Amino acid sequence: MRYPLTPIYCRPWTLNGLSLQLIESHYENNYGGALRRLNAITAQLGSLDFASAPGYVVNGLKREELIALNSTLLHELYFASLGGDGKPTKTLADALVRDFGSVDRWRDEFVAMAKGLSGGSGWVVLIYVPRDRRLINQYASEHSQSIAGGVPVLALDMYEHAYHIDFGANATAYIDAFMRNVDWKAVEGRFEDASKVEPPRPLVQPEFGDLQGVGVEEVSAMLEAGKAVQFIDARPRHFVSRTRDIIEGAVWRDPDRVQEWAGELSKTDPVVVFCVYGFHVGCKTAIALRDAGLDAKYMKGGHTAWRAIGGAVKLNA
Ligand SMILES: [Fe+2]
Repeated sequence: MRYPLTPIYCRPWTLNGLSLQLIESHYENNYGGALRRLNAITAQLGSLDFASAPGYVVNGLKREELIALNSTLLHELYFASLGGDGKPTKTLADALVRDFGSVDRWRDEFVAMAKGLSGGSGWVVLIYVPRDRRLINQYASEHSQSIAGGVPVLALDMYEHAYHIDFGANATAYIDAFMRNVDWKAVEGRFEDASKVEPPRPLVQPEFGDLQGVGVEEVSAMLEAGKAVQFIDARPRHFVSRTRDIIEGAVWRDPDRVQEWAGELSKTDPVVVFCVYGFHVGCKTAIALRDAGLDAKYMKGGHTAWRAIGGAVKLNA
């Protein structure tokens, strides 16, 4: 496949404080250069015999392909980010307030990140993360860094080639000029498209019948609040014997012998029971306890979810 050139999107002669010479050099040499590299690498990959090529040749080309592709995409976004009056539209201002607290706060972070990159190189990218339906400023010291699944909507190029012709080493003046020229209408269009991307489908463990589980955060909060919870570690015996930790405040009971110990529990206080990962052992034990007349729930994600939130554990004596 050959990657086509995208014509320059902003009108260079309308930009405030960024010269034609700078924009043309940037577009032709750096954007054009990335695209030419990308096509050359793609052609090389196309003719490579992967069965006999050494791993370092394959990896080297794939690495260069990633860098050239991201450089191409980010440069297209960069030029498409310019040509406006630098004032966020109402929609974008509302989104920035929602996700950063205020437009000034967003701008302060974005500009501070750019200043942090001046003298070096990289990108500052405003990116939409569908998972959380929110915008975030992303730091990228190389073309190849990007947020997996994020949708970039605004890009500021902090490679020296983006400003040295006009500004020399004065990156701050360049950042100011960039911010003055942001085309927020175009950003809004991209933001609208990005907002339509559905978050990835939630990764939830399949429910065990219609049994309700309780999240680890909720259990942790209940214990912290001093609620009378009967907290039962129902990991299978072979699991407990080869792991060294037990959750603070939990009592281990053998899930295979639930009928023997269910009668020892109080029928008034709620029971939270968990296994290793929150699949069938915890659920089956919770069902057995409910059948015995107890107010029992299983803890979603089990012992491993508890550890993942940094919940307290103690050595298994
Ligand atoms: Fe660039």
